[in-house]
This record gives sequence, C-alpha cells and structure tokens, in this order.
Amino acid sequence: MDGLLQDKVVVVTGAGSGVGRAAVELFVEHGAKVIAADIDLANAEATVATVGAGSAKALRCDVADPNSVDAVVAAAVETWGRLDVMYNNAGITVMPVPGNGLRRLTEAPADEMKRVEDVNINGVIYGCQAAIRQFERQGSPGVIVNTASVSGLIGYGGVVYGTTKAAVVGLTRTLAIEVADKGIRVNSVCPAGMLTHYSGMDPDSENKDRILESMRDTAAAAMFLASDLAANITGVNLPVDGGLTAGRKTGG
Ligand SMILES: NC(=O)c1ccc[n+]([C@@H]2O[C@H](COP(=O)([O-])OP(=O)(O)OC[C@H]3O[C@@H](n4cnc5c(N)ncnc54)[C@H](O)[C@@H]3O)[C@@H](O)[C@H]2O)c1
Repeated sequence: MDGLLQDKVVVVTGAGSGVGRAAVELFVEHGAKVIAADIDLANAEATVATVGAGSAKALRCDVADPNSVDAVVAAAVETWGRLDVMYNNAGITVMPVPGNGLRRLTEAPADEMKRVEDVNINGVIYGCQAAIRQFERQGSPGVIVNTASVSGLIGYGGVVYGTTKAAVVGLTRTLAIEVADKGIRVNSVCPAGMLTHYSGMDPDSENKDRILESMRDTAAAAMFLASDLAANITGVNLPVDGGLTAGRKTGG
C-alpha cells in the first residue's frame, strides 16, 4: 500500500532535531523524498543517516536568510524535480534555561528578541514565499505546513515567543486565503510543550520515550495536513496539545 506522502517531494526545516527529525523519519516511512534542512548541518546529516541517503538529503539552511531558504527549495527541485510540501518547522525561543521559568518581557534582550522574530516569523514567511514561487514555476499547487504553537493560540509560553507564534497563526490564515484560488493549502500544527531539546530538556533523559512520542504526535499531525487526506483543509491552526487549549489543565 502506498504511504500518505508517496513520491511527494518535501522540504523540512529544523530537521536536525526534535519534531523536524521525527517528521523526516515519518514522511520517509510514508514514501516521501525529503530535503532535511537545518542550521546545524551535522545534525541534519544525523537525521538523514536514520532514514538513508536514497530518500533524504541534508542541507545547511538558516531560515532567517531568504537566500538560504531559496537554495533549499532549489536543491529539492534539482534533486527530485519538484516541490510538493514545504514544512516550515524551525523555531527558537528566548528561554534557554530549564527550571528558571519564563523570562519576563522586560528582561528579554533586544538582540535575542530580534533573532527569535527573524527565525520564527521571517523564517516561516521566507519558506512560504520560496514554496509558492516554486509551486507557480512548476505549474502545480503544493502544500505548506508551519509549526506554530499553542503559544500562538492562548497566553502560554512567554510573551516574545508567543507573539512570534501568534504571527505564524495569523500568517497561516491570511496566506491560506490569498493562495486558495491557486489550489495551494496552508495550515499549521500547534504543539504544546514537548520536552524537547528546544525546551531545554535532554532527549536522552529518563523522559526519552515520552519526548519521542510527543514529537511523533506533532509530526503525524503535520503529515496529515500535508497529505491528500486533508485536501479540503486550509487556513487551519491545529492544536496538538492533549486538550490544553480546550481547557484541560495539563497539555500532552
Ligand atoms: N518543544 C516544544 O515544547 C514546542 C512547543 C510548541 C512549538 N514548538 C515548535 O516546534 C518547532 C520544533 O521545535 P523542537 O521542539 O523540535 O526544537 P528543537 O530545538 O529540538 O529543533 C529545532 C531545530 O531547528 C533548528 N534551527 C534553529 N534555528 C534555525 C534556523 N535559523 N534555521 C534552520 N534551522 C534552525 C535547530 O538547529 C534544531 O535542529 C519549533 O518551531 C518550536 O517553536 C516546540
């Protein structure tokens, strides 16, 4: 039986760790050819090593640099002839230290805030631009999936980070409308805290199984939105949070 992304060409950003690595593994399992892009090339290569070089290629990419994002899309076309899915997943936060609580807005250094905005907002915008331009060039629509966060839906996860993720939520809705007539779909996944490297937790800790499960949950939601099963779904910001945004006290 064909996989959900059989023969689809996919770019995944932030593919060297966490959700991005889980997505590359799941997408390849479901038949995709993947460009695994990350600012950390060694980690992107480690991701590719888990799935095999026949199905994935690692590239260094800083999503905050539009030329770097364009180059990744060009590499997908050069390697596999087209682009079907752009998964804008790379993201960072201003909270580097686990256990210290969230940094208050008044304590956030300007240069750090700017970098978070550049990666989390502009990085997604550049990914959308590069993907739409390629969909237009190749004359067939494709799919964009962004990783936002429940922090973009409710007051959770810190002011600066939450603001950037709210921007991704708004971008997803407005862009979906702008490109709907071209048949291009744009959706996001909105995970809750997943205890990944990004959250300052050690993925090799005793929480390893739970961490991997959370990352796979988010990757699976992204794959559903990228697949033809979601052919009539666009402009949606899908919580992957165990009921947190519905009002449950603890997120999954
Ligand atoms: N971990 C959580 O609790 C959580 C919750 C909600 C949303 N998210 C979002 O999920 C996404 C993935 O996060 P994760 O938890 O897997 O984190 P992670 O740190 O494990 O992975 C993020 C990856 O992005 C890469 N990256 C960072 N800056 C980059 C840049 N400028 N260009 C390209 N790659 C870059 C990192 O090298 C890393 O490999 C992010 O957008 C994050 O905001 C995470």
